[in-house]
Amino acid sequence: MPMASETLTIIDNRTGKQYEIPIKNGAIKATDLFQIKISEDEGIVSYDPGFMNTASCQSKITYIDGDKGILRYRGYPIEQIAEKATFLETAYLILNGELPTRAQLDDFSHHVTFHSIIHENIKKLIDGFHHDAHPMGVLVSTVGALSTFYPNAKKIFDAQNRREQTYRLVGKMPTLAAFAYRHSLGLPYSYPDNDLSYTGNFLNMLFKMTELKYKPNPVLERALDILFILHADHEQNCSTNAMRGIGSSQPDPYSSVAGAAAALYGPLHGGANEAVLRMLMEIGAKNKVPEFIEKVKGGSGRLMGFGHRVYKNYDPRARIIKQIADQVFDVMGKNPLLEIALELERIALNDDYFIKRKLYPNVDFYSGLIYQSMGLPMDMFPVLFAIPRTVGWVAQWEEMLIDPDQKLARPKQIYLGAPARDFVEMSKRN
Ligand code: CMC
Repeated sequence: MPMASETLTIIDNRTGKQYEIPIKNGAIKATDLFQIKISEDEGIVSYDPGFMNTASCQSKITYIDGDKGILRYRGYPIEQIAEKATFLETAYLILNGELPTRAQLDDFSHHVTFHSIIHENIKKLIDGFHHDAHPMGVLVSTVGALSTFYPNAKKIFDAQNRREQTYRLVGKMPTLAAFAYRHSLGLPYSYPDNDLSYTGNFLNMLFKMTELKYKPNPVLERALDILFILHADHEQNCSTNAMRGIGSSQPDPYSSVAGAAAALYGPLHGGANEAVLRMLMEIGAKNKVPEFIEKVKGGSGRLMGFGHRVYKNYDPRARIIKQIADQVFDVMGKNPLLEIALELERIALNDDYFIKRKLYPNVDFYSGLIYQSMGLPMDMFPVLFAIPRTVGWVAQWEEMLIDPDQKLARPKQIYLGAPARDFVEMSKRN
């Protein structure tokens, strides 16, 4: 990492002028480029579609080294967290920066648990959706609608208020998700059970039938807990960038989470786990894998669940997920699509096309297989991503709000359209 006193020297060949641009934490400030003029009142800008090499913030939450396949939350390696922590413990860590004491975790869990109930009118809103409404659409709508139930949530610069909305968001997301699922099946809603763990209760809200008390299978409960840990944050991904971007105009956090969840929905981001399953079903059999790989290499479609903007190595989350898959399959029986997935991975990891482009399985390659074995339909997969990622979104949103460097997110553009011209009346247009 360069020292704070280091500078970048830029010589403008048009004018012969030399500029010393300070380098801090490995970055130059894009606004420092402004002094290099391209016209009397315009400075040079950096052009970076997709933010390929632009840091939009400084953050202390999540560290990723994509070349080495390293992921850490608040400095702790993901492997250790996934092995030793619960999801709520991880949520506390991400939100507060330090691991909780027993008393802090009990207090946090208590608040999250007691905010899991939703207003009965939200049920009416869900009832209004068509039976085959995609649950992600239902989740985006209902979490956005929560802002109308908590108008006080606009007081985003009040730390206590933010804390309360955080409990509500973390507590209510599983309820909204499970109610969306039950609605799609025409089943009565199953209310939260405060005696159960975060993921145990989620399973209760998804799967409880006529039994008086739902007892989650401990293997599935823990598997889901680990999956939630792995999805809790991933620094400046597309949905987190949306959360920060929307949050920068200072609306309530429910509106920002609705926008972040919408960004997560797409197949290149949180919708990839659903797309992986659809791809595996389309391939249909292990012996059809080579043919499919050739199609991808020929430019027809992508190998879903492969490749990552940041990881140019095996996604460390994918390694952990592969182990959980075996535990879940022991309980629920092997997912018949696993064979195809393993064959895809085997061939792709040995194929020059994928090796050259550093394309490895990402978190979504195996998560869908696990969710499917647990009895969840593909439509629910992005929803299962959104629940734990809410923790990351809220932590990143709060960090953005209290960072004095942050401003309304408003990128520049390079205008390449028509020059100024006079309006042409309709009667005179060709
Ligand atoms: N299958 C085939 N080719 C691929 C794939 C893939 N999955 N991903 C990238 N490539 C190729 C791409 O065609 C390009 O090749 P070329 O240089 O010949 O044009 C090269 O690799 C670089 O691709 P890119 O699109 O410039 O890379 P990116 O960093 O913009 O893309 C990605 C990252 C995740 C969008 C992409 O890898 C992808 O579409 N993967 C499949 C979708 C997926 O699994 N998404 C989940 C990401 S993990 C969950 C999350 O955190 O959101």
